[in-house]
Amino acid sequence: RFYSVIPAGGIGSRLWPLSRADAPKFLHDLTGSGSTLLRATWDRLAPLSGEQRIMVVTGRAHRAAVEGQLPSLADPNVVLESEPKESSAAIGLAAAILERREPGVIVGSFAADHVINDQNAFRRAVVAAVAAADAGYIATIGITPTEPAIGFGYIRCGEQLDIDGAPTAVRADSFVEKPDLETARHYLDDGNYLWNGGMFISRADVLLAQLGESEPALLAGLSELADAWDTPRRGAVVDRVWPTLKKIAIDYSVAEPAAKAGRLAVIPGDFDWDDVGDFAAIAKLHSAGGPSNLAILGENARVLADSSSGIVVSQTGRLISLIGVSDIVVVDTPDALLVTTSANAQRVKAVVDALKLSG
Ligand code: GDD
Ligand code: MG
Repeated sequence: RFYSVIPAGGIGSRLWPLSRADAPKFLHDLTGSGSTLLRATWDRLAPLSGEQRIMVVTGRAHRAAVEGQLPSLADPNVVLESEPKESSAAIGLAAAILERREPGVIVGSFAADHVINDQNAFRRAVVAAVAAADAGYIATIGITPTEPAIGFGYIRCGEQLDIDGAPTAVRADSFVEKPDLETARHYLDDGNYLWNGGMFISRADVLLAQLGESEPALLAGLSELADAWDTPRRGAVVDRVWPTLKKIAIDYSVAEPAAKAGRLAVIPGDFDWDDVGDFAAIAKLHSAGGPSNLAILGENARVLADSSSGIVVSQTGRLISLIGVSDIVVVDTPDALLVTTSANAQRVKAVVDALKLSG
């Protein structure tokens, strides 16, 4: 009864100029494994749901790249957006389509751009989450926080739940999406909070009912789309309804209110997890430790480095020479060059925002 959904739409603006609107984060191989993040996500999910039961929601512009990455992706499982409307619309539409095709289906949505190495531990957590979903909960997988990150959701762990097949599941007392730094520090010190791992597993009808409580107009739009999806009316309904959909992340529309209602369950994940949000995170992924450690990405990269550390990403093959610089970030692409340091890697998003403003 389990179906996987991969919402693949975020740009990953902290990875500019590598990540672009036309080459978003999930279409890059950031680990050096030879697989893009999207492909790695697919490979992680295939043993859980089967390749025929993975749906991908992405922008029209990414269709060819996504299908190129995922040759086994079945046609009815490609959901194309005419413009991005954020995760509630992407995941909600997938759930609504699947519920119509298969009433009672359990849907798990998994971010397209994370790195997880321990596949067995990942699968164990998802199997437990499916058991919690079967028991009527909206289940998430929680990650032990290691720093007061402000880019994640925080889940306060409550009472132990008594669910067959999910012995570690607890009730979420609260869910707070992207708190400010002071609040994040407080959560970290408290010790009773987990990061939201960006995975939601529930019965499709339960997810949609929860969405409808907080965003009835959005649910109505998604229902109209889903009713028409597998019919010849799809195009006309998409043209009319899509532009009206509210942009809101699922963390606000579903996770926060579900926690308030006592319907959010958390399975603590006992696997490594990295959302590779910026170049410092990529550098760390490639580093074997040690002070003169330089990660080099790019098939044709030519780098001469003398006592330097950090990360170089080269798309041009131009010779890059580094002398005596530590924790440096150099990203060389045909039309843009970024030079910063690991400590400032989070600030790259501000460049992208400024570029957007200046058109
Ligand atoms: N198709 C589609 N369309 N997918 C989208 C859209 C969209 O408009 N917007 C976001 N997504 C996808 C992203 O590609 C990603 O796979 C997933 O939805 C999450 O979106 P992000 O934009 O990456 O969210 P975030 O990283 O800021 O926050 C979420 O993930 C964190 C963990 O990495 C939240 O769930 C946080 O609570 C969580 O901690
Ligand atoms: Mg993300």
